[in-house]
Amino acid sequence: MNGPILAFETSCDETGVAVVAGDRVLSNVLSSQVELHSRFGGVVPEVAARSHVEAIRGLTHQALMDAGIHLNDLEAVAATQGPGLVGALLVGHSFAKALAWSRRLPFLGIDHMEGHLFSPRLEYPDFRPPAVALLASGGHTQLVHMRDWGDYRILGETIDDAAGEAFDKLARVMGLGFPGGPAIDRASEAGDPAAVRFPRALSQRRHHFSFSGLKTSVNTFLEKAARSGELPSREDVAASVQEAIVDVLVQKTLNAAEDTGARVIGAGGGVLANRRLRARLADETDRRGLDLYVPSPRLCVDNGAMIGAAAVYRLERGEATPWGAGVDPGLRLGAV
Ligand code: KG4
Ligand code: ZN
Repeated sequence: MNGPILAFETSCDETGVAVVAGDRVLSNVLSSQVELHSRFGGVVPEVAARSHVEAIRGLTHQALMDAGIHLNDLEAVAATQGPGLVGALLVGHSFAKALAWSRRLPFLGIDHMEGHLFSPRLEYPDFRPPAVALLASGGHTQLVHMRDWGDYRILGETIDDAAGEAFDKLARVMGLGFPGGPAIDRASEAGDPAAVRFPRALSQRRHHFSFSGLKTSVNTFLEKAARSGELPSREDVAASVQEAIVDVLVQKTLNAAEDTGARVIGAGGGVLANRRLRARLADETDRRGLDLYVPSPRLCVDNGAMIGAAAVYRLERGEATPWGAGVDPGLRLGAV
């Protein structure tokens, strides 16, 4: 066991291919489609699927070469099974399954969110449940109680927009471009987070999230300010918007730790690349003596290595996905 696993991630707009062996990441290559989608102001599913098709063979060669191994050395092949965009998922899933079939290797269809849950392990081998994990990306915002590896309970999730989606939509109304998260992160550097007090949806449903009220409030604020001619600087608005989102994410994560008694916090998803969020999580967990494990930004965004890490665990348990299994765009954590 512990032979190399070739892992694919194609659920959204990043084509990720990695080789993982046990706790070690032998290679992890990524082709981002951000520029391709930026002129549309968001991810276009058909464009994403086609772009995965174009990138996947070259990236597979690259991943094997970087790892210094040949297809013959592989012990298994894994790919994201869901959740995600159906066309995008199909590309990686079918490619991986065909490769596994032709080499007579086991195939593992992996839950994308479980991949994020495993992502802190790529850099911190001592990260383990029981823990609470904050997963925040363009498609998801969830708080997960990890009772053990493979034993997860979703404590709360967003009832409207995902946190990354909120960043993206708010950046658009502020004229900051796509993707909005990094743009707001950068603009906030020169802004005052206390300049405007935007609402925080903290009280409704303890572990659930809602960002639609914030969106309305920012829109109303910008319209009023433009009419009155007293528009604060773009940097101040960006920093204030960021603070409102970060406050909610941090507070709800702390609530989840308190309610479950977890002393370990994990995190993942593109929004965890946000510098203010990382700093605030570090401060607040430190003050409470909680152990925080947030991967480096390049492992917070979607990548093949996290799928590989989850696949290592699944393979060790003797699991393999039946050849007839298809992708599942609406997959819920715990269903695989
Ligand atoms: O996990 P991810 O790469 O893809 C999925 O959506 O699954 O996350 C992308 C999201 C986008 O909404 C993007 O705006 C957000 O993560 N994001 C950030 C930052 N970097 C990426 N949000 C806030 N601050 C950032 N620095
Ligand atoms: Zn993701």
